[in-house]
Amino acid sequence: MAEKLLNIALPKGRLGEKVYNMFEKAGFPCPSIREPNRKLIFENPEAGVRYFWVKPSDVAIYVERGAADIGVAGKDILLEYEPDVYELLDLNTGICRMAVAAKADYRDDPSRTLRVATKFSRIAQKYYASQGRDIDIIHLNGSIELAPILGLSDVIVDIVETGATLRENNLVVMEEIVPISARLIANKASYPFRTAQIARLMAEMMAMMEGAK
Ligand code: PRP
Repeated sequence: MAEKLLNIALPKGRLGEKVYNMFEKAGFPCPSIREPNRKLIFENPEAGVRYFWVKPSDVAIYVERGAADIGVAGKDILLEYEPDVYELLDLNTGICRMAVAAKADYRDDPSRTLRVATKFSRIAQKYYASQGRDIDIIHLNGSIELAPILGLSDVIVDIVETGATLRENNLVVMEEIVPISARLIANKASYPFRTAQIARLMAEMMAMMEGAK
């Protein structure tokens, strides 16, 4: 019997395109994905794969609930949502860091509750709890850099990649929390049934990543 297609959730956007290129190079191409249209599902039975584009922060949900067998999610999402999935492989792409940033002239007063604006509330809570610091979380959904500029928060906890967004808004990194990169994740229930397919894919990905070094 032919193997069932492996369902793969990719994060829509810049990271997803890089990651798809990696899958393609590793021997799991799906040429229709490059066609300029707004479709979200693409399959290539010859390569045994079905890809779908998912909002990056939703990849882990698709994988955790088994709508996808595997997927690619940033470590930031895995730390923030703690989905019940297997983390199989660091893909060494989408590399950035989670950091605390503030206005260059910001001076912290440790006796005061720190106002922290972020999309990553759990990461921020855990980080400051480990330091025994009282904080007030201001949960935002984007453009986090605005918060300290407008006095909404003292600092932000956010992703820094090139540092350009911080620089262009006169903010600086105060502390680094954790390095981030894209991870291959798998659904826990389907993994035992898909071990051979997933192991083959991982071996090809690792070989391709070794060759690219
Ligand atoms: C992320 C992050 C920063 C920016 C960092 O934002 O929140 O704003 O990228 O990248 P840089 O260091 O290379 O400038 P994203 O583009 O995901 O949009 P957002 O405003 O929705 O968070």
